[in-house]
Amino acid sequence: MKPVNVAIVGATGAVGNVMRTVLEERNFPVDQLFLVASARSRGKSLQFRDQSIEVQALEEFDFSQVCIALFSAGTAPSRKHAPRAVDAGCVVIDNTSCYRYDADVPLIVPECNAARIADWKQRGIIANPNCSTIQMTVALKPPYDEACIDRINVATYQAVSGTGQAAIEELRTQSRNALDGQALDCRVYPSQIAFNALPHIDDFQDNGYTREEMKMIWETQKILEDDNIGVNPTAVRVPVYYGHSEAVHIETRTPLSAERARELLQQAPGVVVMDEAHDGGYPTAAVEAEGHDAVFVGRIRQDLSHPRGLDLWVVSDNLRKGAATNSVQIAELWLEQEKEP
Ligand code: A2P
Repeated sequence: MKPVNVAIVGATGAVGNVMRTVLEERNFPVDQLFLVASARSRGKSLQFRDQSIEVQALEEFDFSQVCIALFSAGTAPSRKHAPRAVDAGCVVIDNTSCYRYDADVPLIVPECNAARIADWKQRGIIANPNCSTIQMTVALKPPYDEACIDRINVATYQAVSGTGQAAIEELRTQSRNALDGQALDCRVYPSQIAFNALPHIDDFQDNGYTREEMKMIWETQKILEDDNIGVNPTAVRVPVYYGHSEAVHIETRTPLSAERARELLQQAPGVVVMDEAHDGGYPTAAVEAEGHDAVFVGRIRQDLSHPRGLDLWVVSDNLRKGAATNSVQIAELWLEQEKEP
């Protein structure tokens, strides 16, 4: 495929750094790579393949030299600059929540709704979903297609890297200070994150849910194209660096056995089943998921309290499949569709 020019906006951040790695690992046909961040990072150099590339400031960046712009610099920069990138001729793949709920912006998990990428033309923007929603929908698409899903109960155990680089540092510093019996400084999170669990991700809404929880509801319905799915989430931040875990409980419309669900998931794209009822026979964030692109599923079992209930444990690297890898997969599909002769 003919190489194209690509920009990573937010290139110095937790997700931006992984985007650079994933483009290289997947041998994405990049002609020229542009690295863009805030003015604070102007002039800093980062490596891509055998090149050292200077970071440019977003405010003055000229998007007319770029074909695909991967945005992951936060909602405000996306709101201001993604339309400018589109006007300059880019397709924007946006990893923030800025455009996800707009009816004319496709929200894509390639394993679930790749065909919707064709809708990119309406706004020039394709939205990348929230990390927790991506891994959950990858794991739930096969049971959904087989038996439909009426309701999802989910509790998440989310890594600090989802908040960004500063949160990774906060966990490191707090952990060290806690072990040394020092006072803990809370800057990124409102409460101690080291050796703790915070049932609070993103802002509280008027209905008592957090915005992270509402994202899981809105985005799951949009990706699976079913507004009738009930989603009942509790999103929790835990002291893990990389990899989100989720205890997912589904109620299917028609009966689905654990054996059949396991079989379906074993054949599902992007899924690795690790489901053996013995020590270590299940996936975990730090050991199995970190650094990998798959969505790992284990602990698949029948809900003893519900005739059509199934339980699953779903784990994935939030910076990879939850962000960078999903964005690059979207870019690959877009390129195939739009640029293949
Ligand atoms: P910078 O490093 O120059 O601040 P993280 O999610 O790890 O916090 O990273 C956020 C990314 O988004 C970084 O690359 C950061 O750049 C970038 N960023 C944050 N705010 C802006 C902004 N207003 N304009 C451009 N880039 C921004």
